[in-house]
Amino acid sequence: MTATSPTAGGVITQLPDDYVQNPHEVHDLLRTEGPVREVRMPRGLKVWFVTRYDEVKAALTAPGISKKLVGRVRHDALAEHIVFMDPPHHTRLRKLVTKPFTTRQVEKMRPRVEEITAELIAGLHDGDVIDLLEDFAIPLPVTVICELLGIPLVHRDEFREWSNQLLNFGTEEQAQAATASMADFLHRHVRNVRAAAPDDTFFSALVHAAESGDQLTTDELVSMAFLLLVAGHETTVNLIGNAVLALLRNPDQLQILRDRPELIPASTEEFLRLEGPINIASFRYTTDPVELGGVTVPAGELLMVSLLAANRDPERFEDPDRLDVTRSAHGHVGFGHGIHFCLGAPLARLEFDVALTQLLARFPNLTLAAEPETLVWRDSTLIRGLHSLPVRLS
Ligand code: HEM
Repeated sequence: MTATSPTAGGVITQLPDDYVQNPHEVHDLLRTEGPVREVRMPRGLKVWFVTRYDEVKAALTAPGISKKLVGRVRHDALAEHIVFMDPPHHTRLRKLVTKPFTTRQVEKMRPRVEEITAELIAGLHDGDVIDLLEDFAIPLPVTVICELLGIPLVHRDEFREWSNQLLNFGTEEQAQAATASMADFLHRHVRNVRAAAPDDTFFSALVHAAESGDQLTTDELVSMAFLLLVAGHETTVNLIGNAVLALLRNPDQLQILRDRPELIPASTEEFLRLEGPINIASFRYTTDPVELGGVTVPAGELLMVSLLAANRDPERFEDPDRLDVTRSAHGHVGFGHGIHFCLGAPLARLEFDVALTQLLARFPNLTLAAEPETLVWRDSTLIRGLHSLPVRLS
């Protein structure tokens, strides 16, 4: 492939402009060239790109690598959340917010998630061609997260718009305006919930969470709510979309899940492995020289840690490009690894399980309504997801 050359003689590799349309091919090349490669991203940013499974895991836990955002890139109040923090700040906040996210707590939401899913499915009709993302995969997690945070559904579209502007690399002005609107809304919301008596809702539990006399401040809650909203808008949707696409392209695998729907919960891990919704993990940089797989990355460098690439490392997963819904994909890094491992994993797994189970049961002859080559992936190195997924319902 010419797009990633020149690579020899220490020349920095330039990733192709259409990298997001076919990242796997690029990752395969980088992985064979070395565990960590100095590359230029399509927009010119120079980074160190990590693609092999072992080094990806090491990069997610190694000392000398920081996630602290303050002072590094665009700074705003909403960015001061746990994703962009190091210990001890991260440890303190994560401890305070963990309880409502445990598998046990989240399982209590199953009936409501099933109800929301059933309502969405009831609105879909045999014979129609729909965009599965717009009409199903987006409204499900968005409704769930808005309900969890106690945000009235009338604000759902507004939030989606803001979230899109923040993640889709809109202009600086757009991003700032979206940040300001969101921050303003969430501040008012947190103050209202804080002023009210505690109840047994998820967000009330978060707002009133206390650990050894410690509590989240209003600013910390606003950032946390913001993070949950963005995570709730941008991740599960693409797990559903990417999984349905993979199944429609692999009818034998689809048939296995139709015949044995009890395999769906466990198959979630294989979908996260094969085409999880996060490609490159969030912002990381070296504070000291760090050795990864024999390569020394100097201090002060940006690291691109590709979860997508690690999950297709042939040294770790046999025949990694093949969807096999019966394989044990245990150990995949689709939810990250180490102290920043996805807090919402139990919720995402629950939503995915319910969504796929109901979708396959209601539409036994679901088909793709577009040529696979015409599908367009979103222009983001963080999110691995399609712009739209046209399917025919039947
Ligand atoms: C399939 C869906 C999801 C995937 C694949 C996913 C993936 C991830 C990954 C890879 C990270 C670590 C990022 C890094 O280390 O750079 C992460 C962190 C996080 N996720 Fe998720 N996520 C999903 C859904 C959710 C949902 C539904 C929520 C909450 C509503 C959520 C909340 C969080 C939070 C709060 C963190 C930060 C944890 C920390 O920094 O300690 N995620 N997620």
